[in-house]
Order: sequence, then structure tokens, then C-alpha cells
Amino acid sequence: MTDAPSRPLRSRAWFDNPDNPGMTALYLEKYMNFGLSQEELQSNRPIIGIAQTGSDLAPCNRHHIELAKRVREGIRDAGGIAIEFPVHPIHESGKRPTAGLDRNLTYLSLVEVLHGYPLDGVVLTIGCDKTTPALLMAAATVNMPAIALSSGPMINGYFQGERAGSGTIIWKAREMMAKGEIDYAGFVKLVTASAPSIGYCNTMGTASTMNSLAEVLGMQLPGSAAIPAPHRDRAEVAFRTGRRIVDMVHEDLKPSDILTKEAFINAIRVNSAIGGSSNAPIHIGAIARHIGVDLPVTDWQAYGRDIPLLVNMQPAGDYLAEDFYRAGGVPAVVNQLMEQDLIHADAPTVNGQTLGQNCAGAAIEDTDVIRPYAAPITERAGFLVLSGNIFDAAIMKTSVISDEFRARYLSNPDDPEAFEGRAVVFDGPEDYHERIEDPALGVTENSILFMRGAGPVGYPGAAEVVNMQAPAALLTAGISSLPCVGDGRQSGTSGSPSILNAAPEAAVGGGLALLQTGDPVRIDLARGTVNMLVAEDELAARRTALDAQGGYAYPESQTPWQEIQRGLVGQLDSGGVLEPAVKYQ
Ligand code: FES
Ligand code: MG
Repeated sequence: MTDAPSRPLRSRAWFDNPDNPGMTALYLEKYMNFGLSQEELQSNRPIIGIAQTGSDLAPCNRHHIELAKRVREGIRDAGGIAIEFPVHPIHESGKRPTAGLDRNLTYLSLVEVLHGYPLDGVVLTIGCDKTTPALLMAAATVNMPAIALSSGPMINGYFQGERAGSGTIIWKAREMMAKGEIDYAGFVKLVTASAPSIGYCNTMGTASTMNSLAEVLGMQLPGSAAIPAPHRDRAEVAFRTGRRIVDMVHEDLKPSDILTKEAFINAIRVNSAIGGSSNAPIHIGAIARHIGVDLPVTDWQAYGRDIPLLVNMQPAGDYLAEDFYRAGGVPAVVNQLMEQDLIHADAPTVNGQTLGQNCAGAAIEDTDVIRPYAAPITERAGFLVLSGNIFDAAIMKTSVISDEFRARYLSNPDDPEAFEGRAVVFDGPEDYHERIEDPALGVTENSILFMRGAGPVGYPGAAEVVNMQAPAALLTAGISSLPCVGDGRQSGTSGSPSILNAAPEAAVGGGLALLQTGDPVRIDLARGTVNMLVAEDELAARRTALDAQGGYAYPESQTPWQEIQRGLVGQLDSGGVLEPAVKYQ
């Protein structure tokens, strides 16, 4: 046990408050009723919350119920007292209408718990997509010593001898079923084969991305993000996490000491190198907002655009999370970038060492899974940040643009970075599903699919619906994907050329609300613009008509939270946070 600090712990205000002996007795009474002793509660031992995200409703994080036992042992071993409590569940694929709705609710409720209960520090049990940002956002707002622990990814899935990645396989399976290669039973078999164990998605989707970036940000122990859930090392790191948070309380090492601008730049760069999800700018942006670091969405292009893709993991590559761990995980990637001077090596981390100290010399154990910097999978793998008369900001991963796409949309051979196509516009995912197979829609190999009404206000929480599949007729003709543009998000596990997270969204009057099916649209990557080629006076007339009908129409709220969030949420280019919450720092 580390020596007790000279400064009084926060929890003393509850359990040892000479100014209010009556309330102290009342707190003691209740927290002793499950077996803690007065001696423990008044001994100046740090009281450590374990923010438990695992439950039967949250399968990707369910393993935390087991891991928490090792966390408790670590806390006790270092002289602390563990208090485990439930966190509002978020499960990416289980929650309707979208788990995006719950990130800010979980954030809000966790802030309230951390602020209002006798806790000196907290272990954040992260994993499934939105659990990681929600918990880090709350720790940022409350700014008490906090350390994250991943539940870990699932082990590799296989189908007919080939790696099948959870989340990603669904796109392939749908395509196979559309082409008649498998029936529904085969579809289910293929999809479930991709998820063979406890843990979160084994692809480089939003979960693996955010868990990796939590490590890069310095918020979890080095080398721990990629450990598969069932691995022995995962339980061991749970124990070490529990031990470490007690010392962090003694050292008063807080999120604001760790989550600096430099740490966020490191995260942006590593996100490009790992092929991270397009949800990362939203979630990382939200964490930055709550800790008070200025991180405009344009920083993703400024710092991340030129970084090459090093990690060969689905959906961009071939391997899965188990392979990533075996090949060296996050430290090996950081070390590659560090050798090029692309990492702020002196950024502090939870273990008291800098990111540079933690990752220096971390070897790549398999250079096909993690490529050396000099031999990347793709150059310039980061996001481009685009703007124009359809939106002020949206992001695009240009590394997924294929030669086939270039040939189909190139308008002028002298300008190889400019593309033109005709808009096909959908108002929400239901509209897309109803009409995409309708021949009257006139979808061709030169169409660009637009999804609007899918942003944080229009489809509360912003749905992952901008990945739209081409109609079956085009698929059978060999056109595997059409570019998609929208004010919603895209699943981090899909890989089609898309322009995402467009802000402002149609529902708050963004230019996207004025677009009509048939409008020519020009995407100019060299100039960073996307424009509908529609005359100014015509756009003004459309704006007048839209205003006359009371603005862009979107569906009614179905729950109180949907309505509350709609009134308070910001746009995706600034993290999609609850705007009134940002000032609480
Ligand atoms: Fe939870 Fe993929 S659904 S991580
Ligand atoms: Mg997702």
C-alpha cells in the first residue's frame, strides 16, 4: 500500500466530516450495510469507483463483470476500496433507433454519479463503440483521477477458412445474399461466425479504434488496448489497472494533466495509421470539448491526412484484432510514427510515464499485420475535410477510393481529383429502404447517393446510415458500391467511398436540405470542395420554399430523451455534444 497522501481525500467529505457528524453517521450507516467497516471508510483509503458498463444488454462489455473482480483485487492490493456501480448501457447494434442517442445520456448520468457520490477516482470500463467516448467525456468533465480499461476485442472469427470480421462481414454477407450466393440460413451462419467469443468487434471499427485511441491519449495502461477479451493478459491488466488508479489518486493525476492538445494530435495521427473509424473525429472531438482543448474538425486533415495506413486490419485490410495484438498492438504503431517525429513523445499517460517512454522500441512482431512506416498499405490515409454549398464541414477517407470509382466519376481527364455525378436523395434510412430498388429512381453507375435527416437532430443521436448499398441490379452488373454522402454517420466497419458527418445537417437548415434528386454534384478533392451545381437564384428559391413549409421535416420524438437531446445537441463537426454541458469543466 502506498503511503497515504497529506491532502484529505474527496470522499472524506462524506465519511469523516467533523463539520457535519450527523450526515457522516448516515453515510457510514449505509455504506457499512454491505460489510465495509467504519475503520476502512475513515482510514483515508482512496475510494475507487468501478464504472461498470457490462451487462446482459451490453454484450461487448459484458466481460467487464468478470474483469471487475480483478480490478477490485488490484484496488485492494494497493490499499484502496472498490465501489462498483452500473452505467447506463450502450450497445451498438442492440439499441434502437441508434446507440448514437445514448452516448450523451451515458455521459450525463455518469457525470452526475461521479460528482455526487463519495469517490476519489474511477476505473472506466470501456469497450463497445460509444462506451469509450461516453466514459472519457464524463471523466473529462468531472476531472477526477480516472483510468480506462478495455473489455478487449473478440478473438478472430473464421468462415470457410478465411477471417471473418464482426461488423464488416455483414456488408459482404448482404452482398452475397443479394447475388443469391447464400440463403438466409447461410447469412446467419456467416455473420455469427464472425463473433466467436466475448469482447467487442474484432475489426478496426469504432470499438477497436476508440479503445486504441484511449491508449494513445494516455488514458489506459500501455499495450493494453488490443489484448483480446479472453486472454490471460486481459485479466492481468485489469489487476494492474486497479492497482494503478489508487496511486493516481495519491498523485492527484487527473484527466486534465493527460488530455492535452498534444495528446489529441497523437490520437489523430495514430487514427490514420490504424485505419480508424470515421466516428473517431466525432468522439475524440467530444472528449476535447469537455476537457476544454480546442480541436476543430479541420485538425483531422491538418495533422492526420498525410499519415500512411500501417495496420492491415479489416475493413481496410485483411487481419483482425487478435493478429493486431500479436503483431505489437498500439505501442508498435506509435513507435513507427515516433521514429518519424510524428508523435508528441512527452505526452503524459496514466502510468506516470510519457507516451514516448511507454512505446520506445516497441517492435513489430509481424510486418504483414503492422507495416513499417517505410512500407505502408496506403499513403495519405487520413481524412480530408470538405466544404461547399451542401455543408460547411464533412469528412472523407480518400484511401478507399478505387480506380474503378475514379474512372466512373472523372469529369475531366486533366483534373484527376475532380469527380461529378448525379444526386439521388433520400430522407432518412426508411425512405432509402423503401425506394432504392424502385427502377423509377433511375440509379445509375454515375449516381451519388445522399442521405439526409440522419444527423444528431434529424435522427436523434445521428444514425449510422450513410453506408447505402447500390440497388441489386447494379450489384449484379458488377458495380459493388456507389459513393454516399450524408449528415449521418457511417459504421466504422464498412469501407465504401463516403462523405460523412456533414454539418450543419438538413434538419437545422444545412444546404443538404436544398438538394434535389437529379442535381449534378461536383466533388473536388484537390480543392476540398463538394458543391451542387445549381444556380444561386434557384437555390434561393428552394430556400424560400423550405422556410415557407417550416424547415426540413423530420420524425417526431419517440421518447423524452430524444426530445431533450434534440434541443441541446450540437453538430457532428463539433463533437455532437450537449452544448450546455461544455462549460462545466
Ligand atoms: Fe459492440 Fe461492435 S457492436 S463493438
Ligand atoms: Mg458503429
